[in-house]
Amino acid sequence: MRSKVSVIGAGNVGATCAFRIAEGGYADVVLVDIVEGLPQGKGLDMLESCPIIGSSVNIIGTNSYEETAGSDIVVITSGIPRKPGMSRDDLVATNSNIVKQVTENVVKHSPDCIIIVVCNPLDAMTQMALHVSKFPRTRVFGQSGVLDSARFRTFIAQELNVSIEDVFTCVLGGHGDTMVPVTRLCTVGGVPISDLLPKEKIDRMVERTVKGGAEIVALLKTGSAFYAPGVASAQMVEAIIMDKKKILPCATLLEGEYGINGIVAGVPAKLGSKGIEQVIELKLTDDELVALKKSADAVKGLLDVMGI
Ligand code: APR
Repeated sequence: MRSKVSVIGAGNVGATCAFRIAEGGYADVVLVDIVEGLPQGKGLDMLESCPIIGSSVNIIGTNSYEETAGSDIVVITSGIPRKPGMSRDDLVATNSNIVKQVTENVVKHSPDCIIIVVCNPLDAMTQMALHVSKFPRTRVFGQSGVLDSARFRTFIAQELNVSIEDVFTCVLGGHGDTMVPVTRLCTVGGVPISDLLPKEKIDRMVERTVKGGAEIVALLKTGSAFYAPGVASAQMVEAIIMDKKKILPCATLLEGEYGINGIVAGVPAKLGSKGIEQVIELKLTDDELVALKKSADAVKGLLDVMGI
């Protein structure tokens, strides 16, 4: 039997993610939204593209959670995106209510699922989904690091004119201003980027990565990035469904790792059929640890705002 993935929110990120999963051909997809006709229309359009892309999966769109029952994975993308001048944290009041209500419905219909949170502010929304679902951390985590490291990889590959495939980056911490790109562990074909680029250039790329979302919001003006966030989320789904044991940066609840307890932060984790199968604790320098803790403190501030 094919796996089942539900994507909540049939907007830009949700639809991109759903389509990427459908292209992968490894799971049936249920697309859910509150807007009548939107998930049905997008779902049907995707289904009609399957004969062309050569995928045999089923895709349905719906306004109800009944069709999501028994999902293996649920990706939560429902929420408002940023507008120019807004930070991700400005979304907290609206999106935390949406995530709370969505998670309650998800848990009711798919009590054994794995939840991947994508809406912003990402770390706080992941914490909200953990709080409401009462699932263990292995089954509730967020997508941000895959996107942030992809952005950093793009800039490095462009700068050095090398294949994107050869670039590895390590980005920890929160999805926002407190992001912690660990440049010491970034390599091109196994060579540290500090051997290939001057510090000022690396610093400029770090800055661009941290503000990567805002750069796109400023260009789009009416919404935020969706192609890269959508496919980043689908990559996490694929790692789980295919039991790849892939090491990806995940926004995960730390339980003492890195000296942080009870707060969600982006760290490398092993993703397989059980969800997060291992949280990887890198040996960080004192400065890197301080930056990661600052990131966790910022999330803590939002938890206080949300009252959880
Ligand atoms: N249940 C289901 N769907 C909902 C709900 C809800 N309670 N509330 C809102 N939605 C739907 C909206 O109707 C919309 O179709 O979520 C969708 C969001 O889509 P977009 O507005 O296109 O936003 P998108 O760009 O996809 O971003 C979604 O992901 O990257 C983050 O910051 C971004 O928080 C934002 C989220």
